[in-house]
Amino acid sequence: MEILSTQESDLARAARALREGKLVAIPTETVYGLGANAFDEVAVARVFEAKARPTFDPLIIHIARIEDIGLVAREVPESARSLARALWPGPLTMILPKKSEVPDIVTAGLPTVAVRFPEHPVARRIIELAGVPVAAPSANPFGYISPTTAAHVIDMLQDRVDFVVDGGPCDVGVESTVIDMTGARPVLLRPGGMALEAIEAVIGPVVIPPRTPHSVGHALSSPGQTLSHYAPSTPLYLFEEGSLPDAARSMGIARPSVALVYTPARAREIEAHHLFDAVEVLAPDGDLREAAARLFSILHEFDAGQFRAIYAERVPEAGLGRAINDRLYRASKK
Ligand code: TXA
Ligand code: MG
Repeated sequence: MEILSTQESDLARAARALREGKLVAIPTETVYGLGANAFDEVAVARVFEAKARPTFDPLIIHIARIEDIGLVAREVPESARSLARALWPGPLTMILPKKSEVPDIVTAGLPTVAVRFPEHPVARRIIELAGVPVAAPSANPFGYISPTTAAHVIDMLQDRVDFVVDGGPCDVGVESTVIDMTGARPVLLRPGGMALEAIEAVIGPVVIPPRTPHSVGHALSSPGQTLSHYAPSTPLYLFEEGSLPDAARSMGIARPSVALVYTPARAREIEAHHLFDAVEVLAPDGDLREAAARLFSILHEFDAGQFRAIYAERVPEAGLGRAINDRLYRASKK
């Protein structure tokens, strides 16, 4: 594995590597992606292998121009065009009918394809220079926490990736919002970095399906939506806002342990009980964007670490709070 900078000559090397069938981890505004040429079946197969990802879980294809949607999608409904015009580039992935030219391995045999135009200038430049759409899941082993720095990718994937382009920490910090645009009404498959409110402002109400417990290995309509996902290896217990420490006390608190809460004010209230060995704040300035950007780094840090358990409180369920609560829930013991 070789680390590349964001200098133009390094981005050109990354692009060439993609064209040659190599795997390149690239920074996006959400999380780092493990990229391969979407039209190269062997390279895409290596992505699944590197992540130990089950082949029934399809990948997102990344493009660097709205027009390129036509390279991978068979048809684009008017509402999807509106979303693309309003919110791309950005942390929004749309599910559309798949073009037959897209290899089945990318879409896990589904008749649909996931497409995203990322905003990060480094991702965009690499895709442009490669001249091919880039299939890229998050650059982590399957089921583990997504990477928001190049160091996370290097630690987790090591020599299973050919190049890692170091673009610094990701601004958004949680994965893209995934919307299925193939049915009569748009359906939210994964809350993410694009607020649902922003999407509904463009296309009106979006269907939010109830969370149903299904397990890996099952045939899933939205395959990545398994409930245990994004999980750290330190057990994480999730509680309602404002319910720590009482709710945790009743189940018995492991030592050493850490509480993970939204704001500094909340941290002070919890510290006063002296029940946890540490209290970590998701948003020092108390805003959900900051909480999203810091979430995975904090979980990676906890895991490197000294704690036997993590006791987390939910954040407000609005804007990026939906994605944060979703990832906390998936990371939690159920
Ligand atoms: O922000 C992101 O989306 C990042 C960056 C790298 O772009 N990528 C990412 O990829 O999170 P991944 O593979 O970790 O998550 C892709 C999600 C999965 O839940 C997958 O099941 C879903 O998108 N997906 C992909 N294709 C689909 C399809 N045709 N139908 C339904 N869900 C699909
Ligand atoms: Mg992922």
